[in-house]
Amino acid sequence: MKTIITYGTFDLFHEGHLNLLKRARALGDKLIVSVTTEQYDVQRGKMNVVDSLMRRIDNVRNSGFADEIIIEEREGQKIEDIQKYKIDIFAIGSDWTSKFDYLKDFCEVVYLPRTENVSSTGIRTLRREIIKLGIVGTGRIAERTMEELHFVSGITASAVFNPRPNSAKKFAKRFGIETESSDYELFLNEIDAVYIASPHDTHYDYSRRALIAGKHVLCEKPFVLKETEAKELFEIASEADLVLMEAIKTAYSPGFLNLLAIARSGRIGKICDIEAAFTKLVPEAPKAREYAPICGGAFTELASYPLLPIVKLLGTNYSELYFDHSANSNGIDIYSKAYFKYENAIATAKTGIGVKSEGQLLISGTNGYILAKSPWWLMKGFEVCYENPDDNEFFATPFHGFGMRYELADFVQNINEASFKNFKLVKSDSIFMARIMEQFLKARKINSLPRSSI
Ligand code: CTP
Repeated sequence: MKTIITYGTFDLFHEGHLNLLKRARALGDKLIVSVTTEQYDVQRGKMNVVDSLMRRIDNVRNSGFADEIIIEEREGQKIEDIQKYKIDIFAIGSDWTSKFDYLKDFCEVVYLPRTENVSSTGIRTLRREIIKLGIVGTGRIAERTMEELHFVSGITASAVFNPRPNSAKKFAKRFGIETESSDYELFLNEIDAVYIASPHDTHYDYSRRALIAGKHVLCEKPFVLKETEAKELFEIASEADLVLMEAIKTAYSPGFLNLLAIARSGRIGKICDIEAAFTKLVPEAPKAREYAPICGGAFTELASYPLLPIVKLLGTNYSELYFDHSANSNGIDIYSKAYFKYENAIATAKTGIGVKSEGQLLISGTNGYILAKSPWWLMKGFEVCYENPDDNEFFATPFHGFGMRYELADFVQNINEASFKNFKLVKSDSIFMARIMEQFLKARKINSLPRSSI
């Protein structure tokens, strides 16, 4: 009796999958097929899988070649499966040749011929029109997003906008983008969706005009700096059935979602305090965007990150809020703190561009605490700690590249599937953030201290 095991996503089940299963089954007497979970696919950087896990399992079952179906949910599981199910042969398509040779210590490894000219990726691309994305702004974050776009299928950058024609031209040349423009309305005609990575105070106008022109919007943080503006934009988007998302990469990353799940599970008891910090020293150059008059400063620049765990875990209904900050001679905050009081919890969001501090996320509960060290906003792991240190647990999750691929994948999915329920960063979260930004800027205006008095 020979038992074979094979692994795959089996998305949009196709002829290549069927042939592979048939060939694998023919190697022995029993075939076990392990299908990847959605979460594991995202973790290993495979974005935009279309079929649900249940549907993919059904399709494998309906092939008639699987004697048993299991799921693959994490790295390192293959060796355990081979031992647990007493596997004789590990079989996989030839696109993986040599990648699984390390399993030869445990069983026979067979690379089966892959069927030519068919793949889930190919079908995904053919099934849908590729979304034509316009890039607004040509700074560092837009450059990084361009690199991340390669990892997300179904979307391509086809135009770039910058009011300064030379900057648009240079960016287009560097990234091989067809169209560059310094005229926003003409630019909008070329595309289906925009990614806005321009200075903070331009987000409202660019988002509004894009939505009115019928384009989906993914806007960098901070989305807008006034609550009424955020509400208005979401209203326009919902009336026109358009996707409007704020690009806070952490919110969409597997590690942060895992942390939220654990914090909400009751593992650390009732959450009583959240202390979240992000500081990044930025030299005070005359043209530095971070020190721009009115909307520059540590808080507008960085607070979207520390506000994120607060709103996701404690919600939008705080009972008290006050701010402290230290400002430079122009009244721009170089260090700031927001203190929240909720019915049964407190929270602090700390940011700095002219003051360096420990940048960690600490969630304290009645049974224990969760500690994610700096840079927690690129979440690769966190520790859950208890009274007895022997019980402490560490959770690791991959965070790929610069991390924008996660929000881009959700953006694509939101556009393509009306029924897709985005829970990672919702309208009320972004409206909350806009409200806090607005209140901070008001408080800063009233209370700004000259540097000499810090
Ligand atoms: N496979 C195959 N022939 C193809 C496509 C896939 O033999 N034309 C095999 C793979 O080698 C693997 C299994 O089918 O052993 C499951 O692969 P999966 O990654 O789900 O399929 P792909 O079509 O390669 O998916 P994607 O394009 O998303 O990578």
